[in-house]
Amino acid sequence: MAGIYIHIPFCRQKCYYCDFYKTVNTTQTDNFLSSLKKEAALRKDYISEEKIKTIYFGGGTPSVLNENQLFFIFNFLSDFFLVEPEAEITFEANPDDLTKEYLQMLKNVGINRLSIGIQSFQDEHLKKMNRRHQAKQAIQSIENAASAGFSNLSADLIYGLPGLTLQEWKSSLQQMFRLPVVHLSAYHLTYHQGTPFYTWLKKGTLKELSENDSIKQFNLLIDEAEKAGFEQYEISNFARNGLYSKHNSAYWTGEKYLGLGPSAHSFNGDSRRWNVAHVDGYILGSENNSSGFEEEQLSEKDKFNEYILTRIRTKWGISVYEIEKWFGLKIAGQVEKEAEKYLLSGKMKETNGIFTLTRKGLFVSDDLMTDFMII
Ligand SMILES: C[S@@+](CC[C@H](N)C(=O)[O-])C[C@H]1O[C@@H](n2cnc3c(N)ncnc32)[C@H](O)[C@@H]1O
Ligand code: SF4
Repeated sequence: MAGIYIHIPFCRQKCYYCDFYKTVNTTQTDNFLSSLKKEAALRKDYISEEKIKTIYFGGGTPSVLNENQLFFIFNFLSDFFLVEPEAEITFEANPDDLTKEYLQMLKNVGINRLSIGIQSFQDEHLKKMNRRHQAKQAIQSIENAASAGFSNLSADLIYGLPGLTLQEWKSSLQQMFRLPVVHLSAYHLTYHQGTPFYTWLKKGTLKELSENDSIKQFNLLIDEAEKAGFEQYEISNFARNGLYSKHNSAYWTGEKYLGLGPSAHSFNGDSRRWNVAHVDGYILGSENNSSGFEEEQLSEKDKFNEYILTRIRTKWGISVYEIEKWFGLKIAGQVEKEAEKYLLSGKMKETNGIFTLTRKGLFVSDDLMTDFMII
């Protein structure tokens, strides 16, 4: 079983915090789609003959694509891959694109899971982030999606924003849980170099939220999600009734995936690949049949670090039995020894040989993770 990720590198407007690869110049969209088809044909063997269990349209903004463009993609996917009839097909969409007609079209082409980028339910914060939508539209987009028959609905929120109060965050969360979503991805704001938010932070024109306030917002997120019946199955991901993102869960449990499009990453258990992060370079590369990606073969040490990195923040945790089976008794022993201090300090817990992070541990997951990794 494997997954396919398709990066759609176009946005109608750039949000001030975002460093995902994208361009607002959409004149190359059709050339880009032809390159995508060429790439799929060239790279299909990377994940062998595995059946495709999940497809994920990410971005950028996949909802800039029209019906013909989506049909074009689905046609070549079914030419080159064995897509399971029950495959989870997720589509990231911006609220301002989700008209009733567009939602109906997404249903017709075969999308069965939507991930809507809400980010906030406060107009003031949406404006500060340079989002194109307002709170009213955000609510409407989720309601319209549910009416169009999308039951597997996910939404994104960002917290830790400059000036975001605990009361505002609570009201955004409560608003979200009143809507028909079964999944929430809630990310703490990251200041990425090269984004306007980062520049303003460095200049001092934008003030970072205090660590104490960030922690309070993280705690509130977990409490409100729990009250609404959502399980935290990864540090930033919450689901009702076990409706996890199958695609992302597959990343975290080490399954193979093929990434298509500029900046997309791929993994097949033995190597990692990442594509050039530039539309023109990507198109040019496909015209010249040049590789267009960089590749790293994974050593045993890399594989172990990859295991820690992907698993530690999830409910599946790190298992001493799996580590023993795949990396040997000695490494399993080291992991158990390293975990001791975290068990004592209450940052980790252990159930039947599986170590997972407690809420206290999730706050410091970056530091904790590096302690387990082999340098
Ligand atoms: C590929 S992006 C956006 C998809 C879609 N274009 C949208 O904006 O709704 C996926 C998600 O990453 C999150 N994100 C992007 N940049 C972030 C940052 N700097 N800090 C925290 N979350 C971020 C946002 O919640 C966003 O919805
Ligand atoms: S958050 Fe979404 S819409 Fe905004 S710039 Fe990033 S990819 Fe584009």
